[in-house]
Amino acid sequence: MKSKFLYIIPIVLIIIFSFKKYNKDNALDENLPQLGQNSIDEILQALTIEEKVNLVTGMGMFIPGLPAGMIPEMDSTDAGIPEKILGSAGRTHAVPRLGIPSITLSDGPAGVRISPIRGKDSTRTYYATAFPIGTLLASTWDTDLVKIMGIAIGNEAKEYGVDVLLGPAMNIHRNSLAGRNFEYYSEDPLVSGSMAAAIVNGVQSNGIGTSIKHFAANNHEFNRFRMNVHVSERALREIYLKNFQVALQKSEPWTIMSSYNMINGTYTSQNKPLLNTYLRQESKFKGLVMTDWFAGKNAVEQMEAGNDLLMPGTKAQKISIIEAVKTGKLPMKQLDENVKHVLELVLKSPTFKGYKYSETPNLKQHAKISRQVASEGMVLLKNEGVLPMTTVKKVALFGNNSYELIAGGTGSGDVNKSYMISLDKGLENANYTVHANLAASYKHYYKEGKAKLPPPASPFHPHTVVPEMYVDVALAQKMALENDIAVFTIGKHSGEFVDRTLDTDFNLTSSEKVTFETVSKAFQAQGKKVVVVLNIGGVLETASWNDKADAILLAWQGGLESGNAIADILKGNVNPSGKLATTFPVAYTDEPSSKNYPGMVTEVISNKMLLADTDAAEVTYEEGIYVGYRYFNTFNVKPSYAFGYGLSYTTFIYDNLKLSSKAFKDNLKVTITVTNSGKVAGKEIVQLYLSAPSSQLNKPESELKAFGKTKLLQPNESQTLTFYISTADLASFNPAKSAWIADAGRYTIKIGSSSLNIKNKAFFTLQKSQQLSKTPKILLPQKGIKELSK
Ligand code: BGC
Repeated sequence: MKSKFLYIIPIVLIIIFSFKKYNKDNALDENLPQLGQNSIDEILQALTIEEKVNLVTGMGMFIPGLPAGMIPEMDSTDAGIPEKILGSAGRTHAVPRLGIPSITLSDGPAGVRISPIRGKDSTRTYYATAFPIGTLLASTWDTDLVKIMGIAIGNEAKEYGVDVLLGPAMNIHRNSLAGRNFEYYSEDPLVSGSMAAAIVNGVQSNGIGTSIKHFAANNHEFNRFRMNVHVSERALREIYLKNFQVALQKSEPWTIMSSYNMINGTYTSQNKPLLNTYLRQESKFKGLVMTDWFAGKNAVEQMEAGNDLLMPGTKAQKISIIEAVKTGKLPMKQLDENVKHVLELVLKSPTFKGYKYSETPNLKQHAKISRQVASEGMVLLKNEGVLPMTTVKKVALFGNNSYELIAGGTGSGDVNKSYMISLDKGLENANYTVHANLAASYKHYYKEGKAKLPPPASPFHPHTVVPEMYVDVALAQKMALENDIAVFTIGKHSGEFVDRTLDTDFNLTSSEKVTFETVSKAFQAQGKKVVVVLNIGGVLETASWNDKADAILLAWQGGLESGNAIADILKGNVNPSGKLATTFPVAYTDEPSSKNYPGMVTEVISNKMLLADTDAAEVTYEEGIYVGYRYFNTFNVKPSYAFGYGLSYTTFIYDNLKLSSKAFKDNLKVTITVTNSGKVAGKEIVQLYLSAPSSQLNKPESELKAFGKTKLLQPNESQTLTFYISTADLASFNPAKSAWIADAGRYTIKIGSSSLNIKNKAFFTLQKSQQLSKTPKILLPQKGIKELSK
């Protein structure tokens, strides 16, 4: 009996041991702390170094169609893990034994970017709504509406299983040729930051995160992985960081994405003064910082700088961080801090909360929102008695892109949508008759042209540009005879990885010019009108041809419902109310940054990997704070269309401008009454500019300090808008004193319908100069910068 018992003991022990081991491997061990049930400190204690390092480096990125060796090597253990959501941009590592799931990050600003098809499964699709691009959103100047769009994108992301949406993108439009301006909002930090905050608040109301990007001074694509931006402390603080600061004051993004470039010699992702002193201490950011994909060169410095998550994560990064911790070069305390931010993010995520996503977001409802936002952000640049097209029946529709509108830009900001409403379709939906033969010729030409195009240089350069179809005089004349009006679409692609070119993107190509002139002449000869629709992502030259158009509608790139949204405006179902959030100069050379854009190559790098490297380059922001209208209006350079400009089918009267006081104390209340003085209902965007005394510093002629949009005002209806001005709005950054200072003197409030069309003015004084917060001496230029001044 006794010996029998002894025989059983080892078997029981083996069973207990195996069970324990099983529990350990499968997170069932009750002795192990679990995320959510135990404190983050307890989790940190239980994590091995390898697990910690896994948590701060993403799980890689698997790009279909990209030959091996073109991206840095992933960890082979990660490569074996199937993707949770095909086509998402990346995800974090799980540590199952501690209850830490992997969360998914997905682009991007204009909609959820995931693969619409999963393998061979033909039973269902995963398309997303393509919403309008950033430049269009900013042109709505309507943060409430933009927030509604954010709510829709956030819902779509959540229902597809995404935890963090990689947007909004909010870099400043420093130069018109920047390839990603379409994703960004404006040349003005207040507009940019306010729009970004609206998206953040909308998306995050769903309980998923956002990542405001790219922090900071990431204003071109030229050699983007090794670009050193030389910029003054003042320009940085007043322009290139200010937009992020505004966004952080108005919203609490869960994450922020550092950029590719260096600022004054240090990669932003490795820049402790930027990510810690400025972002966490000065701007009170509490969330997680992630790198842009493959950004920076030194993983250990990134950790030290407070860049918590390295995306998409490579094997080399893991090795170097582990070694740095083991040799004491990277304090464990720092790594723990980074891991803590990752865990805090995971804790908030729908995945952690066990959210059962449906994979069936309400795409129909979101398409309606997309259409509404699109029509609200289109800008009517010119209208000489043509629009709305109320008596028109037959339309001769010219321009390749009329039949294939461009929904948005390419690269990570692109969205896989299930359909695209072209302009011919939109016009037909609005009961116009589009000339059938002309349409057939364009469609045939475009199809053939695309088939003949060489394959794109890489999966990242998918622009297919078929030259504008040639229309001869006879055809133009025949169309003018047979139709009531000509609508001519000019479309321009832009995208990530490459900047736009002056000759083909900013200026019209010769085939566009010739065809447009032929059409315009033929129609005008018969007393018929020509409407131009600009289907573009960034600023375009208009001065040389706008006299040949009777109306110009800047439609931007309005997402999948673009054709319907354009037709809504052409028909008058929607009264245009969009205004420019970026100046349209007469010529590219009028832009001050054109003198040193995009910068120079400083070192040619051999053996660079296609995706993750470029030559080294540098650029100096010699224009300083004089970006966009701050330059044009201060130096009296007349633009084609000014910042804040946009027409309506009605007119507005501004009156009764009142200030709460003529002597500024801590705050000022400004009210203005706007009345619809025309015949149709409409909305007006009202802009408040401030001209400050410049006793100590050079100051721009005026700066936008507040804006608002009226409700839809019926004819004769009025609305009073209220704005508040704080001491911070009066202040400029004085580098000599390392402080924001509001100078004593007389200030002018200018209420305008654009930055150049000022309707009312009022004055107030600040008795004594006031110094606001003092700032540490950080982010200083490496060299003297000869900045533009008045
Ligand atoms: C872009 C980011 C994007 C990331 C992930 C990078 O190339 O710069 O904006 O979020 O890729 O797709």
